[in-house]
Amino acid sequence: MNSQEIVELCQKHTMYSWSATGKVDPTAISRAEGVYFYSPEGKRWLDFSSQLISVNIGHSHPKVVAAMKKACDGLIFAHPGAATEIRAKLSKRLAELVPGNLNTFFYTLGGAEANENAIRAARLYSGRPKILSRYRSYHGGTNATLQLTGDPRRWANEPGMPGVVRVMDPQPYDYSFGSTDAEKTENNLRYLEEVIQYEGPKTIAAMIIEPVTGTNGVLIPPAGYLQGLRKLLDKYGILLICDEVMAGFGRTGKLFAFEHGNIVPDILTMAKGLTSSYVPLGAMAVSDPIAAHFKDNVFWGGLTYNAHPFTLEVAMAAVDVLIEEGMVENAAKMEKVMQSEMARLKAKHPSMKEGRALGLFGMIDVQKNNKGDFIAPYNGAAPAMGALAKHLKENGVYAIVRWSSIMCSPPLCITEAQLKEGFAVIDKALEITDAAMEG
Ligand SMILES: Cc1ncc(COP(=O)(O)O)c(C=O)c1O
Repeated sequence: MNSQEIVELCQKHTMYSWSATGKVDPTAISRAEGVYFYSPEGKRWLDFSSQLISVNIGHSHPKVVAAMKKACDGLIFAHPGAATEIRAKLSKRLAELVPGNLNTFFYTLGGAEANENAIRAARLYSGRPKILSRYRSYHGGTNATLQLTGDPRRWANEPGMPGVVRVMDPQPYDYSFGSTDAEKTENNLRYLEEVIQYEGPKTIAAMIIEPVTGTNGVLIPPAGYLQGLRKLLDKYGILLICDEVMAGFGRTGKLFAFEHGNIVPDILTMAKGLTSSYVPLGAMAVSDPIAAHFKDNVFWGGLTYNAHPFTLEVAMAAVDVLIEEGMVENAAKMEKVMQSEMARLKAKHPSMKEGRALGLFGMIDVQKNNKGDFIAPYNGAAPAMGALAKHLKENGVYAIVRWSSIMCSPPLCITEAQLKEGFAVIDKALEITDAAMEG
C-alpha cells in the first residue's frame, strides 16, 4: 500500500488518541532502523522524539529482533499465576540494576497500568486513601491515572477517581517560587508541607512525581528538591512513587532520573524504555518493606497479561542492549552536544526562549516577544508553531511540537553528527517563529 492508501484507511476505520479523527494528519510509516524511520515511498525522517520518547535503544536493533524471533519458538504465553524462567531471570536482573531496595516487580502492559497498581499498592500498604500529585505531569490515560495527571488531558475525564490532591511543581507554568534553586526548593516544600497539614497527613498514602517531568516541559528539578521532598514525605509516613515511564532507562544519562537526586523512592514505575517499545510492557517495582507486606496480605490487582513471557523476553534483550552498548553513557555524553547546539540556536534566534537538556531528554521553548511570553498559551496553539512543525516534518525531522515547545529526545544510540543533523533543521525552522515575533 502507498502512504495515501494507508492514511485513508487508518482515518476511516480507526480512532486516534487525544484527537478528532477528521483533524489528524498521520504520517505513514513502513520501516524503521536506528534513529531513522521511513514512509512506504522511502522518505526518511530522523526520529528526534524516539516516537513517544520510548524507543530508547533505537529502531529494529538486530539483537533484539533476533531475540524476539527466538522467543517465538519458546513459551509465548502463560497465565499470570505461573512461574516462568524468564519471569525469574528478568526480575533478578532488574533487582540488580534498579538502585536501593526496589527488588520486587509487578508487570503490566504499559505505564498507566503501572501507575494504577502503584497507587493501589500504596493505599493497601498504608491504609490511607489520598494521593498527592503535581499539576505539570502526565501519568497515563486511564480513569485513575488521568486524575493523577495535571496536564489538560485530564479535564474532559473529570471528575474521575476521587482522592487525588494536586499541588504546584517547583517550576509552575507562569509563577516562580524564587530565583535560585535553593529558594525554589525551600519555598515549594514549605508550601507542600502546608498542603499536607490541611489535607491531614494521616489521610495521604503517597505522592507521585515524575522526577524529571516529561511531556509537560522536560522540567529538571531544582537542586535539593528531590532530597528535600523525600525527607518531608518521610516525616509524615507518606510514600514516594517515582513515575519513570518516560525518564527511565537511560533517558537522562543515568539509568533512572531519581538517581540525579541521590534518593530512592518507595515505588518506581516504568514502561516505554523497558522494552524500548518493541512490545507493550510496564512494571511497578516496590521496596522490600512493601514487598514484605504483600507476602502476608493480598495484592488486589491483576491482569491477563501480567508477566507475559514473550514481552519479558523482549525486555531482557532490550535492557541488555541498552546496558551492554553503553547507551546510558552515550546519553550523558550527548547531553553536552545537545546543550551546545541549543546555546548556538539561542544566540541566533530571538524567538528561542530557552533550551534545556538532561542526558538526551531535551526541550526548546519558543517565545513571541522579548519579554519571554510563550508563543502559545497554556494548552493552546500558535499558527507559527504549526508552520514550524510542518517545516520539520517536510524536512525530515520528526519532533513532537506541543504548545510552545519542541521535544528533542532522540534514541540513546544517536551520534554527534546525527544530533547536529536534527538541530540544523530546527535552526531553519526557528526562522519561522522569529518572523512571527511581536517585538
Ligand atoms: C511519565 C508518564 N507516565 C505514564 C505514562 C503512560 O504510559 P502508557 O501510555 O504506556 O500507559 C506516560 C506516557 O507517555 C508518561 O510519559
